[in-house]
Amino acid sequence: MLVRKQTMGRAFLMFLIFAQLQFIILPIYASSVYIVYMGERHQNDPKLTLELHHEILSAVLGSKEAALDSILYNYKHGFSGFAALLTHSQANLIADFPGVVRVMPNHILSLHTTRSWDFLQLKPEPFSGLLSKSRSGDGSIIGIMDTGIWPESESFKDDGVGEVPSRWKGICQEGEEFNYSSCNRKIIGARWYVKGYDAEFGKLNTSGMVEFLSSRDAVGHGTHTSSTAAGAFVENASFMGLAQGLARGGAHSARLAVYKVCWGTGGCSSADLLAAFDDAISDGVDVISVSLGSSPPLSAYVEDVVAIGSFHAVAKGITVVCSAGNSGPYSHTVINTAPWIITVAASTIDRSFPTAITLGNNQTLVGQALYTGKHVGKFYRIVYGEDVASSNIDDDRAGSCDSRSLNATLVRGKVVLCFQSRLQRSVMVAMKTVMKARGVGLIFAQFVTKDVTPSSRIPIVQVDFEVGTCVMTYMEKTRNPVVMFSPTKTAVGTVISPEVVFFSSRGPSSLSPSVLKPDIAAPGVNILASWSPASSSSTDTDHHQLPLNFKIESGTSMSCPHISAIVALLKSIHPSWSPSAMKSALITTASVIDEYSQSMVAEGAPHKQADPFDYGGGHVDPNKASDPGLIYDMDVLDYVYFLCSLGYNNSAISLMTRHHTICSKTSRTQEDLNVPSISIPELRKSFMVSRTVTNVGPVSSVYTAHVEAPPGVRVFVKPSILSFNSTVKKLQFTVSFHSRLRVQGRYSFGSLSWEDGVHIVRIPLVVRVVMDEFRVER
Ligand SMILES: *[C@@H]1O[C@H](CO)[C@@H](O)[C@H](O)[C@H]1NC(C)=O
Ligand SMILES: *[C@@H]1O[C@H](CO)[C@@H](O)[C@H](O)[C@H]1NC(C)=O
Ligand SMILES: *[C@@H]1O[C@H](CO)[C@@H](O)[C@H](O)[C@H]1NC(C)=O
Ligand SMILES: *[C@@H]1O[C@H](CO)[C@@H](O)[C@H](O)[C@H]1NC(C)=O
Ligand SMILES: *[C@@H]1O[C@H](CO)[C@@H](O)[C@H](O)[C@H]1NC(C)=O
Ligand SMILES: *[C@@H]1O[C@H](CO)[C@@H](O)[C@H](O)[C@H]1NC(C)=O
Ligand SMILES: *[C@@H]1O[C@H](CO)[C@@H](O)[C@H](O)[C@H]1NC(C)=O
Repeated sequence: MLVRKQTMGRAFLMFLIFAQLQFIILPIYASSVYIVYMGERHQNDPKLTLELHHEILSAVLGSKEAALDSILYNYKHGFSGFAALLTHSQANLIADFPGVVRVMPNHILSLHTTRSWDFLQLKPEPFSGLLSKSRSGDGSIIGIMDTGIWPESESFKDDGVGEVPSRWKGICQEGEEFNYSSCNRKIIGARWYVKGYDAEFGKLNTSGMVEFLSSRDAVGHGTHTSSTAAGAFVENASFMGLAQGLARGGAHSARLAVYKVCWGTGGCSSADLLAAFDDAISDGVDVISVSLGSSPPLSAYVEDVVAIGSFHAVAKGITVVCSAGNSGPYSHTVINTAPWIITVAASTIDRSFPTAITLGNNQTLVGQALYTGKHVGKFYRIVYGEDVASSNIDDDRAGSCDSRSLNATLVRGKVVLCFQSRLQRSVMVAMKTVMKARGVGLIFAQFVTKDVTPSSRIPIVQVDFEVGTCVMTYMEKTRNPVVMFSPTKTAVGTVISPEVVFFSSRGPSSLSPSVLKPDIAAPGVNILASWSPASSSSTDTDHHQLPLNFKIESGTSMSCPHISAIVALLKSIHPSWSPSAMKSALITTASVIDEYSQSMVAEGAPHKQADPFDYGGGHVDPNKASDPGLIYDMDVLDYVYFLCSLGYNNSAISLMTRHHTICSKTSRTQEDLNVPSISIPELRKSFMVSRTVTNVGPVSSVYTAHVEAPPGVRVFVKPSILSFNSTVKKLQFTVSFHSRLRVQGRYSFGSLSWEDGVHIVRIPLVVRVVMDEFRVER
């Protein structure tokens, strides 16, 4: 799933496609796409790797011809493996071949302004701080795995951008309406991957819909994420006049390499995605930005293509940034949880879109919308969903404007008031229902959030239950209740921010709770960025000038490229930092307070103080991240020990990494992985972990430990003073936790900060006390 918040239409379309396929294709063809993953490649020559793949496949299929017919991709640059059309029994045969780590069925993932950069204090004027030190990311290359790009967008002009870095080895792959000339010094690479998708869904037919068999973006999502990360300056950008101003990417001098893996009907095939990772690793990108994933239950790390692809990328020094998912505010919903990935949660910024509603009695109330169309300044009849239900529909469903619950005869030409219910929480669903019944407006009463749904055809005003109830009271007292909408205004600096938005997926990781996830929060609510004018959401407007070149979108998909851009900036200043050093710098300098120095809040029902399961280390502070003082660094071996501690098969690990049977040589626990956080999901009595920090600040520095112990736990740090000098760059310390509870605990949170008077190197502590089993039995 691209991790923009799913629109129902696309999800439904996907469902139809799934349903049809299972019905039609499976009975006819017994073959389907399997990914054969063979780990780290053993030959440096891609040709030899390719021959090995063909040999294995020929042995199983009987001939070289059959092998060549069935193969979709050879993965041979970043790692070794292939994707091919196989029957279940052929797949099982291959799984037993020496050198094969895992055979996994292809899998469909889905897709889950620019005020945000000023808000993060990365301002072009005065040109200072990280932006100036990094020359706006000049020299860094960001790989975006998404729906492609709209190359003519003003955001991708290359005026003033220098030559393509000579180390770049990628290509500009041609295709439908995408020429070699579509690439430039900003978009330096473009590739597209459709074989896995075709094999799953049948040949992509671009005639019945808008889609391009090329890197050209028909959806908008990839254009949005690309321009958020590295878009050039565009003066006077806006979404229908809203959020008007200078639009720009965070690393506006960085280059983009586009890998189109997701297609307009919804969905991205894992075989295609893995091919994109394989290419990106050898093309020479510095950062890979992945705003997509699959929903829980999470697969094991050796069966998840995002985890596998990113493992090999990170091993080669490429930082991989992924969205955390949009399934919040419930716990355990975070995805893309491998410890080598930076997993990004979504936060709000200080911009809001107040929209006034005037009732017939002249009372004016305020909600939020993104609407500047023609249904303003005039009174319309207003009806309550429950009162205009289709016969044979529960009043409950109509009250929340659930799908097809309204009677079009009664709704046509009127504004509908709906209340969010336990079963129907989505303003998007209510919008579709009202539009289908030809209503002219929607007032949707719901829990409080700053996430606003854009609408171009009819005003959709989101209000809290108090305002909703107020409208209802007026309607009950009046024979012919009416309302009038005012156009939406853009307000900056009028709401407390940042907050973690309700939809942002929450930790702990359901796969490995000892690795804290998400890692960090970045803006992902009401973000303005470039859009594809070919997208259907650009063309369903009926009164605005088309096409739509900029759009406001929300999702962890939008937060992810914010962090990718910041990594590109950091890379320009610290080219030698490892991906874990990048991640450590971001996490240990993140902020846990809002602009009024109060503890940050997380939206939900109700709002609460944010904790590490909402935002990991906190909200990103890019300027501080460039000078973290100390870093928690790691290399591939650390990740290998981690996989060992999870009980992964020794032989699988050695193939994945070319380190041979080393699991026996370590007694490290999962909790000992040198991540910039400590998470102990099961604390019985006491537990000790160790960490190592590397000094990247002034050579002679003395740091003192400051602990905020999680409630119910005593914490000791040894040693509590760390002295670095020209020979001592790295120091190890231990942190021991002692339970003070005699009952089963909840997760509780604290922090450990190393301070030298200049830097505060803070990591979150997450502990859950569990009962001593012996005592439970008694
Ligand atoms: C492709 O190239 C041709 C000729 O070089 C040009 O006329 C055409 O406009 C190009 N198309 C795109 C989409 O760039
Ligand atoms: C593609 O779709 C169009 C319209 O939906 C249809 O007329 C055409 O036959 C399809 N082509 C193929 C090759 O399926
Ligand atoms: C910005 O765009 C709006 C229309 O979107 C236009 O009215 C206005 O004149 C433009 N301002 C500048 C400075 O270009
Ligand atoms: C609402 O205000 C307008 C002018 O401000 C006035 O003419 C009208 O009578 C008022 N209506 C009610 C119901 O108070
Ligand atoms: C819709 O309402 C009209 C008018 O009350 C009624 O005649 C019709 O049967 C209703 N249709 C449905 C599907 O409920
Ligand atoms: C580990 O790998 C070996 C060889 O591939 C295999 O025989 C064994 O079943 C695997 N064990 C587990 C637990 O997966
Ligand atoms: C650095 O500190 C270590 C341990 O305190 C000490 O042994 C060493 O001599 C110091 N090196 C320098 C160059 O001061």
